[in-house]
Amino acid sequence: MAKSTPPPGTSDIFPDEIPVWYRFENTAKSVFALYGYGELRTPVIEYTEVFKRGLGDDTEVVQKEMYSFEDRGGRSLTMRPEGTAGVMRCLAGTDVMNGNEKRVFYIGPMFRGERPAKGRRRQFHQVGVENVGRMSPEIDAENIAMLMHYLEEIQITGSKLVINTRGAREDRKPAEDALRNYFSDKIDGMCDDCKVRYENNIWRILDCKSRECQAPVESAPNVVEFFSEESQNYFKKVCETLDVMDVEYEIDYRLVRGLDYYVHTVFEVVHEGLGDNSALALAGGGRYELFLPDMKKPVIGVGFAAGLERLQMTQEALGVAAPEAGPAPVFLVSLGDEARAYSMKAAAELRKAGIPVVVEVESKSMKAQMRAANRVGARFALITGENELERSVVVCKDMEAGEQVELAQADVISHIKKFF
Ligand code: HAM
Repeated sequence: MAKSTPPPGTSDIFPDEIPVWYRFENTAKSVFALYGYGELRTPVIEYTEVFKRGLGDDTEVVQKEMYSFEDRGGRSLTMRPEGTAGVMRCLAGTDVMNGNEKRVFYIGPMFRGERPAKGRRRQFHQVGVENVGRMSPEIDAENIAMLMHYLEEIQITGSKLVINTRGAREDRKPAEDALRNYFSDKIDGMCDDCKVRYENNIWRILDCKSRECQAPVESAPNVVEFFSEESQNYFKKVCETLDVMDVEYEIDYRLVRGLDYYVHTVFEVVHEGLGDNSALALAGGGRYELFLPDMKKPVIGVGFAAGLERLQMTQEALGVAAPEAGPAPVFLVSLGDEARAYSMKAAAELRKAGIPVVVEVESKSMKAQMRAANRVGARFALITGENELERSVVVCKDMEAGEQVELAQADVISHIKKFF
């Protein structure tokens, strides 16, 4: 293991890579604000029970992927594998349980112990949104539209929105019976994961990507037909609202999503830019009823999350240019101790005027200091030696044009300011 390598499935993000992250985060803040959403910051660690109960004991995330540990007080804690359960834990203490609506978004790292691969990380970052406390097909449709609006603003073109319904909780039993009945004489020839799913979480068979499962899955009954009329009408209304909002979508009756809390509307956005791994989605979400430990009534809402690393991969595949980094700094070169004292003072004034500055603090030759200016990509070098100090001037070298002029100390800020 090289000393500078972080653990598998995690990455360092360097300053020259950060502008694209700022774009994702700042656009999220501005787009979601247009829909009345405010940022909520919850802890990265939660009680393990929040996820076990919230996401469901039988989900893959809970069974195989959680980073859980016991703290010194003997509590079982988990590094959040997703944002929704923690947000619900937080909001369950507010008036959302009485049907009052809360609109929140979050941005931050999530942790899943998956096998690292392209687009599959152990620490990844999500922007997510939750509309909590109310239920209506219009809210679901607006939530989906907001996701598509966000993707458009960050220049992700060519993505495909896929939607489906999981029906109400009461619809599950008849649908599961129908699926179990259909797969009973086929399951022996299907993949090992599906054999487990057949027992624990039969819905997940529907979105299995294994080759041997494709034929039986493709001919599986459409479970939506087993849902109540009310649930079917709810979904119809979601689709109609998307139509009036001009949001393009595809219905895929095999889309079930991996977390147990989903009811009614579910959706995912996929993109060819993520490569040939069709299991990777850019973003996903849906309506949920999320149970928390010791609560008899679930918290209800609708939301989604998009993975920032996957957004970045897609942007790269699309050739979207990374945003410009901040302006290049002014580099202060000083020859002698007194000159350096002046440079420190001038730097403080320039920074107050909004100009980024780097001061060379070591006594190096002029040549070495100019090399350092080049290394940081300086826009200007301001050079002060004894001679300049005596006359209250500085030499200002334009590093792009290669020209230099002498400036009165008092004129430095107004001269430089023109270029920033
Ligand atoms: P999810 O589908 O598990 O849903 O994750 C949402 C997004 O997070 C994915 O579409 C993907 O972009 C990203 N993601 C997930 N796992 C990884 C990984 N291992 N590496 C890189 N990116 C990943 C949720 O998390 C739900 N909480 C979404 C939601 C909010 N549903 C309702 N409200």
